[in-house]
Amino acid sequence: MRVKKIAILFSGNGSNLESIIQKVHNKTFNNTHLQVALTLTNNPNAYGIQRAQKYGLTSVIIPHKDFLTRQSFDEKIVEVIKAHDINLTVLAGFMRILSEVFTTNVKAINLHPSLLPLFKGANAIKQSYESDMKVAGVSVHEVSKELDGGAIIDQIAFRKENLSFEEFEEKIHQIEHEILPQAIIKILTK
Ligand code: GRF
Repeated sequence: MRVKKIAILFSGNGSNLESIIQKVHNKTFNNTHLQVALTLTNNPNAYGIQRAQKYGLTSVIIPHKDFLTRQSFDEKIVEVIKAHDINLTVLAGFMRILSEVFTTNVKAINLHPSLLPLFKGANAIKQSYESDMKVAGVSVHEVSKELDGGAIIDQIAFRKENLSFEEFEEKIHQIEHEILPQAIIKILTK
């Protein structure tokens, strides 16, 4: 049996972190045992820290404010990821722009709450709700040096007519909690 190790990077609420832990951690798919071997945050107050702890996972906290440059913060993260012998790093609500120090050294995927390449950046949910498009959705993509710009791995779309903003947001998160664990399983078990 193969073992594949996952790192999850998060910055806040951590609902996607929790869905990954619930759906893939210490589970075996296609003769491959998946293990969340590292949970890491840049935010000492992230609620995700408590969520991970419920499953016995103690998060590594690396406050970005302790670093003078983006590159030195990224160097530290890369060092920790490498020390944990990680096969796939998952950005799940990790709200830091990553430099080439990270993108050239780490194989990573990101979750984004829009149908990329539309609505890149931090306000995707609001922008996609307010656009006159009839559909919206969620993307999982490879992390590259271009923000929200790496190759698309998977997308799920839905019709957004008649949804209130709250219903819309809820739908996005529901889809996120399915699509990201599925993408992880697909990548690590093939
Ligand atoms: C998600 O909507 C994700 O797409 C975005 O940040 C949010 C994180 O939510 N990048 P959570 O912390 O996983 O609950």
